[in-house]
Amino acid sequence: MSKLRIGIIGSGGTGTRHAERFSEMEAAEVVAIASRNTETGNALAEKHGAEFIPDWQALVERDNLDGVLICTHNDTHAEIALAALRCDKHIFMEYPLARSIDAGEAVVEIAESNQRVLRINHSETVSNSHRAVKQRAQELGDLLLTTFLRLTPGRGARPEILFNLPVSGPPAHFFIYHIYPIIDIFGGARSVEGSAVYEGLTDQGNYNRFVNTVNVKFKNGGIGSWVWAGGVEIQESEQHSRYILTGGTISDSDGKWHCSTGAEVEEIPPVDAPNISLQERWVQEIQTQETSAAHRDAVTALEAIRVSLSAEQSMQEKRRIVLE
Ligand SMILES: NC(=O)c1ccc[n+]([C@@H]2O[C@H](COP(=O)([O-])OP(=O)(O)OC[C@H]3O[C@@H](n4cnc5c(N)ncnc54)[C@H](OP(=O)(O)O)[C@@H]3O)[C@@H](O)[C@H]2O)c1
Repeated sequence: MSKLRIGIIGSGGTGTRHAERFSEMEAAEVVAIASRNTETGNALAEKHGAEFIPDWQALVERDNLDGVLICTHNDTHAEIALAALRCDKHIFMEYPLARSIDAGEAVVEIAESNQRVLRINHSETVSNSHRAVKQRAQELGDLLLTTFLRLTPGRGARPEILFNLPVSGPPAHFFIYHIYPIIDIFGGARSVEGSAVYEGLTDQGNYNRFVNTVNVKFKNGGIGSWVWAGGVEIQESEQHSRYILTGGTISDSDGKWHCSTGAEVEEIPPVDAPNISLQERWVQEIQTQETSAAHRDAVTALEAIRVSLSAEQSMQEKRRIVLE
């Protein structure tokens, strides 16, 4: 089988990691890199023996590419995905799917109608641990409450651009990978309320300390609470999730999941299945022209951004947003 020819857009942290990963794969080759950053773009292209193309629009139009990886900032994901899908490319993109719900819907729709494999880099999709938690939750009756709490002492080494409201969206949006698994297990939201406090917010949209909360009512019943306080006075980061159902409570601790009932606490081990990376799955799906699983996961990613972007709208309009 001939190798899948890949073009990567963006030459920062994730672009570099994906370039390494795909270059190591037997079934794929990195053919072209596009970035507005000519220095890092050229260097990355040279490292992988790929062509450097300064303009991403020119890359997506290339006939010598099968798939495009989108590793740019959040405000460009959907625009690039739409352009590449219109040129019949398969897409592997960084989360979040889009910076607006309309744009996210358009991307998912065109991928389905053009029968392209659209994968958004949500690792739960291939996580045997997540599969086990999902199965267990389905056995435990009705959802009462999901809670997520994250406290971080500083912004650490994370790129500044994440903490820029217009480009990246609020924390709940650029950290959508903490919302995606909840939506995957319990389904989408019926209503969303968000609030946020940003300290040191500049005219450009950068900020320092922040608190962001999102509260949802799920379509299938139960409520959810998501909280991240960043840059707060605390020695070490902490984070935990709880899924409270009528038949038991699922919780995470030190990277392991447990189920607690009145009678006992037991670990939820990962499902016993082969490990495959999402990148490998994407390549296989393109080779076998299997688009349905990717489409289903893209719909989940869309439901997840409906929550984060409705929360953003709720903060702006200071009201609860009721979804269709
Ligand atoms: N899956 C994960 O584990 C993970 C981890 C971190 C981030 N992410 C996501 O990955 C994406 C990229 O993050 P990152 O950390 O790689 O950011 P980054 O290091 O700043 O890299 C982004 C790259 O895209 C380029 N770029 C930005 N806008 C562009 C445009 N309009 N046209 C062409 N090139 C453009 C940037 O150029 P400049 O150098 O000129 O800015 C840079 O080369 C973000 O959406 C982020 O949320 C995912």
